[in-house]
Amino acid sequence: MFARSLTALLLLSSLLVAFAGSASAHASGVKVERHAARNARLSKRGEGGWGLVEQANGTRTSNIPVRGGQYELYAWTRDNVTEDAYKNLKRIVFTTHGMGRDPWNYLLHTQIALTAAVDAGLPVQDGEMGLWAPSYWNQMDDPVANRTDTNWLFWYRNEWEDGHNSILPEGSSVSSFEVLDNVLAYFGNRTIFPNVDSIVLASHSMGAQMMQRYALLGNMPDIEPEVHFVVGNPGAYLYIDDQRPVGAGGAMPLDNCSDWNAYKFGLNKVSDELTYGVPIPNKDLLWQRYQQRNVHYMIGQLDDGRGANISCPAYVQGDAHRTRGALFHAYLEHLGGFPASHTLDYVDCTHDDQCVFSSPQGQQRLFLQSKKAGQDMPSYIPQGPYNNLFQGPVQFATSDGEASRMPDGTAFVPTSFRATNSASPGDSKGSTGSQGNASGKSSGALSSVSADPFFSTMAALALVTLASLTTL
Ligand SMILES: *[C@@H]1O[C@H](CO)[C@@H](O)[C@H](O)[C@H]1NC(C)=O
Ligand SMILES: *[C@@H]1O[C@H](CO)[C@@H](O)[C@H](O)[C@H]1NC(C)=O
Ligand SMILES: *[C@@H]1O[C@H](CO)[C@@H](O)[C@H](O)[C@H]1NC(C)=O
Ligand SMILES: *[C@@H]1O[C@H](CO)[C@@H](O)[C@H](O)[C@H]1NC(C)=O
Ligand SMILES: *[C@@H]1O[C@H](CO)[C@@H](O)[C@H](O)[C@H]1NC(C)=O
Ligand SMILES: *[C@@H]1O[C@H](CO)[C@@H](O)[C@H](O)[C@H]1NC(C)=O
Ligand SMILES: *[C@@H]1O[C@H](CO)[C@@H](O)[C@H](O)[C@H]1NC(C)=O
Repeated sequence: MFARSLTALLLLSSLLVAFAGSASAHASGVKVERHAARNARLSKRGEGGWGLVEQANGTRTSNIPVRGGQYELYAWTRDNVTEDAYKNLKRIVFTTHGMGRDPWNYLLHTQIALTAAVDAGLPVQDGEMGLWAPSYWNQMDDPVANRTDTNWLFWYRNEWEDGHNSILPEGSSVSSFEVLDNVLAYFGNRTIFPNVDSIVLASHSMGAQMMQRYALLGNMPDIEPEVHFVVGNPGAYLYIDDQRPVGAGGAMPLDNCSDWNAYKFGLNKVSDELTYGVPIPNKDLLWQRYQQRNVHYMIGQLDDGRGANISCPAYVQGDAHRTRGALFHAYLEHLGGFPASHTLDYVDCTHDDQCVFSSPQGQQRLFLQSKKAGQDMPSYIPQGPYNNLFQGPVQFATSDGEASRMPDGTAFVPTSFRATNSASPGDSKGSTGSQGNASGKSSGALSSVSADPFFSTMAALALVTLASLTTL
């Protein structure tokens, strides 16, 4: 009890120090750190999460205004790119963290990938890149949670991953998808960013689940910059209808799972879950819109992890991250052809965002991909030992139960989409023949990549924990 109060006191003082120094809008940086053991203990009591420490060197706070500034999405950016320099920015790479909510690592890893891209000779200028990494806080992130003197948004547990509403500030109820609409509007605002011509919403793991769902359900404001989604190793996908793969990639049979098409895995009952975007457009409109969006799936060939706290609706999509990715690709082919605006890259990585972003394909997707600039790289699907995750065509099936229902009011046409078809990851348009050998272009540079000295302090700080405080 004493230790806990003392901890709270120390945290509060660091908070006050952080805020005392916040004379200017952007000096109010605080950095939060998590201590795994503390978390595990406090989580059992519904507490835990990140506490406050100093802002890391090389970074500053630069929050994103939501609903005209009524609320803010907490975000980190590089401290050497000042507001005066925003006019130099041509591309924004906005990188969303995974379940661990560690945006400082994502900012660091994005910087490392950018340095690798520059070193590899890609036509990319560091000073033209705006790097941001947001923080989808949750209720465990005490003592920052439920403060009355900030307008930072918080969600319950991981509910930011699928468009649920914020729980704090009290009464805010902002969908995380509405937040992404605001993010795009902010970086598309010509008054602040006059020269930005592309915005990349990059993501990995749980962040990638969020981004793929937003790419499908998000309204997206009408802005000038070209928008790209990089979806790296998500633990599950939002399927567009009630078909699922059978007999491949370790996919669990539908009969073994009762809620395999419930949102966030499918669209059954989506309107009960979300206030954003309701009524959800019918499936055909969703599919049309999704095909137009620039979505870049990136799958770690070595990512055979099943995912944290993943339930049977995810296993119905495949037994691991990499098989779920390969089967979703087959599903899109089956649904009407893998969209020309989508790409899929198999990269030599496990479940590791830094590896994915720094891979030759990751460098291109994050920093170069652009239709307007004629940088439209095809999928990278080498026929290697790892990505032949299943042999032969994939069959798709559905069942007639409650789970297969689509949202009310949709124009779901069973006949055209229930016919069994086949597709395999190697036979997509644009994925073979014309794909080239992307690995040959820059793989040699990767081994020489090292963190910039400023940013390496971020890495070091990421290891600093509150252990010393909590063991007092
Ligand atoms: C940040 O940089 C300053 C100046 O280089 C240095 O004195 C300080 O120790 C650094 N802080 C951390 C936490 O690395
Ligand atoms: C900002 O700092 C990073 C990390 O130290 C460095 O790689 C980059 O070149 C700097 N960019 C600008 C525009 O000064
Ligand atoms: C926030 O604080 C208020 C006042 O103490 C409390 O009534 C409310 O339940 C808290 N909300 C959350 C989500 O913790
Ligand atoms: C663009 O930014 C300016 C300056 O902050 C602001 O006044 C304006 O309202 C913004 N425009 C939109 C559409 O949000
Ligand atoms: C599915 O259920 C059947 C029957 O209960 C069981 O034998 C089988 O092991 C289950 N399969 C999986 C992948 O859980
Ligand atoms: C795991 O997921 C289930 C179902 O969504 C949820 O009830 C449970 O709290 C989650 N557990 C953790 C540790 O997040
Ligand atoms: C790709 O390029 C690399 C480097 O030039 C080469 O070693 C490798 O054999 C090529 N792979 C294929 C499939 O052509």
